Parts: sequence; structure tokens; C-alpha cells
Amino acid sequence: MEIKRTLKIKNEEETRRFGLDLAHELKAGDVVALIGDLGTGKTALTRYIAEGLGITARVNSPTFTIVKEYRESRLPLFHFDVYRVSDPDELFNIGADEYFYGDGVCVVEWADLIEELLPEDTRYIYIEYGPKEGERIYKCSF
Ligand SMILES: Nc1ncnc2c1ncn2[C@@H]1O[C@H](COP(=O)(O)OP(=O)(O)OP(=O)(O)O)[C@@H](O)[C@H]1O
Ligand SMILES: [Mg+2]
Repeated sequence: MEIKRTLKIKNEEETRRFGLDLAHELKAGDVVALIGDLGTGKTALTRYIAEGLGITARVNSPTFTIVKEYRESRLPLFHFDVYRVSDPDELFNIGADEYFYGDGVCVVEWADLIEELLPEDTRYIYIEYGPKEGERIYKCSF
């Protein structure tokens, strides 16, 4: 995936700012793919995107399901965590395409595991730890 910009995030407040700004440019059928190690803040960023969309419900990782739906906002949010998906067929079985090409915004944690299923115009964010506590590096395809 081609990286268009690299952002240095200094702390969680900057992650929040990034998530809120991103939310405002999203429209129905957009997919945001989050790729990064354990604890880099994929769920945290999803939470701030949700906040930007106007979702007040607490966003937690969908532990027992692959996808969790939040439908209280202007644009619904479909939050995927595919960490435990061992076979892309599992996504086919839950009708993932209905979400990816649907009426809401999809955010996918561990998206590298199902990259071949994602729409071509997916926005990729590769998250790495920065050198200091709270710092993160965002490499964005957009
Ligand atoms: N700049 C930052 N951005 C996001 N989270 C941060 C930042 N700095 C510190 N944190 C903290 O890092 C933790 C990130 O946890 P989170 O569950 O969001 O990670 P994750 O990538 O979703 O992990 P997992 O791979 O288990 O799903 C949170 O406790 C959060 O408060
Ligand atoms: Mg997570």
C-alpha cells in the first residue's frame, strides 16, 4: 500500500484530534483499515472516530463477534475486529460485503488479516509505537 503521509502523534489527545477530523471526511461506504501491534491504539482511534460521527455509546472491541454496529448517528459505524478470524470465509459468512459496500462507515482492526477482501478505496492507517510513552507514528494511504 502506498503511504501518502506520515504523522507523528504525540499523545492520546492528538489521536483523538486525528479521529475526530477523519470522522468528518467519511461518508457511507467508506472503510478505514487499522493495522498495528497490540496496544498501539486501534480501538482508541475507533472510539474517537465514533465520537466524531456523533456516537455516544461506549465503543469496545467486539470480542465475541467480528463486527459491532452503532446506529445512533448520521452515519452508522460498523466496528470490525478480525484478530480471531482464521479464514476469510468467516467474513463472507457474516455478509461482510454488505457492510463494506453499505450505508455506513467501517473501521477494521487487524485489517492486514483480511486485506484481500477490502474495497479498493479503503483508507489504510499503519500504526507504530513512537519512541516515547504515548507517541505513535501513523502512516496513511490517504
Ligand atoms: N497516542 C495514543 N493513541 C492511542 N492510544 C494511546 C495513545 N497513547 C496511549 N494510548 C493508550 O494505549 C492503549 C491502546 O489500547 P487499545 O485497546 O486502543 O489498543 P489496540 O491497538 O486496539 O489493541 P488490540 O490489538 O488489543 O486490539 C490505551 O490504553 C490508550 O489509552
Ligand atoms: Mg483493539
